[in-house]
Amino acid sequence: MTLRHFLRDDDLSPAEQREVLDLALAFRDDRHLRRPLAGSQAVAFITDKPTLRTQVSFATGIAELGGFPLMVDGSLAQIGVRESISDTTRVLDRQVAAIVWRTFADSRIQEMAHVSRVPVINALTDGFHPCQILADLATIAAHRGGVDHLKGLSLAYVGDGANNMAHSYLLGGVTAGMHVRIGAPTGYLPATDIVARATDIAATTGGSVTVTTDPREAVTGAYAVATDTWVSMGDEEQAAQRETPFVPFQLNAGLLSHARPEAIVLHCLPAYRGKEITAEVIDGPQSVVFDEAEFRLHAQKALLTWLLETSDV
Ligand code: NVA
Repeated sequence: MTLRHFLRDDDLSPAEQREVLDLALAFRDDRHLRRPLAGSQAVAFITDKPTLRTQVSFATGIAELGGFPLMVDGSLAQIGVRESISDTTRVLDRQVAAIVWRTFADSRIQEMAHVSRVPVINALTDGFHPCQILADLATIAAHRGGVDHLKGLSLAYVGDGANNMAHSYLLGGVTAGMHVRIGAPTGYLPATDIVARATDIAATTGGSVTVTTDPREAVTGAYAVATDTWVSMGDEEQAAQRETPFVPFQLNAGLLSHARPEAIVLHCLPAYRGKEITAEVIDGPQSVVFDEAEFRLHAQKALLTWLLETSDV
């Protein structure tokens, strides 16, 4: 029996990621291209954290794949509190075709995947946001004329280098053969095991990894420049101490001027104008953030289709 999950970006090999991204672009051109959930089968979407784009894009995508989006409020389900992760999973996987979960510690979704008999998809954890990176890669590919063009491009991310987005850019970007540069303040650098893993993948794909505390070095010559909130969900009590160290990493017109002239700007949203990004940049001509938000839909439909077809469950 083959059963595939998507808990972190490197759960897809470079060839597999390529298939998913090609399918994402095909879904962009034809929203009803494939209907693997027709019948209809349900997919559970559970969230333990706030969500807008992820919930909307999964619910819409599951419906467009012919299925039923079963939305579960994590504050009611209280997974791991009211009922164990294992028991919850064993109830769900007899009824749904896949489980999508946004939660806190990665160990929680790993435990679910260990038990589940259907694909489990990470809809954001403390460690990774791999569905967002698939959308980002598809967005970049769409702006460059296809998935073939990702290899060799430079992708810069400035801001919290220790958060889920930074880790997913590292793993997902090098899987696509990109040169991933992370610019972050001391104390907010990516986890060393993720940098090491990304470096290993890069050695096989022709990509590379740069981690620097100089935001200008990170951005210089980049084709895509991304940032994210300085205060991720779960970090709220550190909001005050996170203000000052990140100021030099704000994505503003001055910093963006060091990227390639045709560079595009990415942000997973929600954005805090005047903090990690200026209004001038996110609302400016180089910003593609709403294309990026739309690609959540296409990329997740492609991912679900691929996982369901690859897993013989
Ligand atoms: N790093 C952010 C991403 C939000 C989509 C967070 O985890 O809150």
